[in-house]
Amino acid sequence: MRILITGADGQLGCELQRVLSGYDLVLGLWPDFDLLKAEAERVILEAKPDVVIHAAAYTDVEKAEQEPDMAMAVNAEGTERVARAAAKSGARLIVLSTDYVFDGRKRLPYEETDFPNPLNAYGRSKLEGERRALARCPNTLIVRTSWLYGLHGKNFVKTIMRLAGEQPELRVVADQRGAPTHAGDLASALAEVLGTDLCGVVHATGSGDCTWYEFACTIVSLAGLSATVHPITTEEAHRAASRPPYTVLANRVLAKAGITLPHWKDALARFVSEVRTVAPAERA
Ligand SMILES: NC(=O)c1ccc[n+]([C@@H]2O[C@H](COP(=O)([O-])OP(=O)(O)OC[C@H]3O[C@@H](n4cnc5c(N)ncnc54)[C@H](OP(=O)(O)O)[C@@H]3O)[C@@H](O)[C@H]2O)c1
Repeated sequence: MRILITGADGQLGCELQRVLSGYDLVLGLWPDFDLLKAEAERVILEAKPDVVIHAAAYTDVEKAEQEPDMAMAVNAEGTERVARAAAKSGARLIVLSTDYVFDGRKRLPYEETDFPNPLNAYGRSKLEGERRALARCPNTLIVRTSWLYGLHGKNFVKTIMRLAGEQPELRVVADQRGAPTHAGDLASALAEVLGTDLCGVVHATGSGDCTWYEFACTIVSLAGLSATVHPITTEEAHRAASRPPYTVLANRVLAKAGITLPHWKDALARFVSEVRTVAPAERA
């Protein structure tokens, strides 16, 4: 089976390369594969993949508020390009999406059938990408995940580990609840998805949930660091992008297919040991 991975050098893309190494992989890498350019479609058509895993995206939630057109161009128009090419190739399309398609007003885990209502430019661009993918490619699976962290690239876990080593006190938002997801666990779940004929929308996040504050406290403790973490409100954090207060996702469809992801605390403990094995430059 030939699998084309877009965003193959991103957090998830790197883990997909590792987990799917037994397959015939084609890597869609910027700048040869640029979602903003029409040639992206040609790259996919020439590769003749059986499956396209579309992990490339404009992922800077804060910056997207300043350049919403760019976020839309990459995440909606770019995804549409990928979907058109996957459809023409007769390939199955798996598109990564986000918990930020929801407004966070619910207080029970969001199900795949819940109505999305994004609060920020990034969420709007990802939702539009979902819709265009589903409209353009008949064999599409949207996989929504949340609070992703991996060994490669920047993320919350690495940032907290670095800051807690540099500063005695940290302030972290305590009124947003979600589910941290280990990129390696998500990649393994996606490998299992390849053995199913799931299509439509699925949620795929680490099990359990927490606030960013609880997440940070657990990171500091597991890493054996001594910084004190103080809880603050979203308002006190002064961020440009509105953030939904609650985006826990129920992984109902995946669970029905027998696919589960580990609890976020177990995954985090594993990650903290793993991160020590990578080069210091990669840890920051
Ligand atoms: N990170 C999270 O917390 C999170 C949460 C929920 C959902 N997701 C979704 O999960 C997926 C994977 O996220 P991630 O954290 O692995 O993302 P990431 O580390 O930011 O990687 C994104 C990848 O997309 C590539 N890319 C960006 N613009 C591109 C363009 N114009 N053309 C081609 N490639 C481009 C990047 O290439 P360069 O490295 O060359 O820039 C990078 O390889 C994304 O769809 C994201 O929206 C992420």
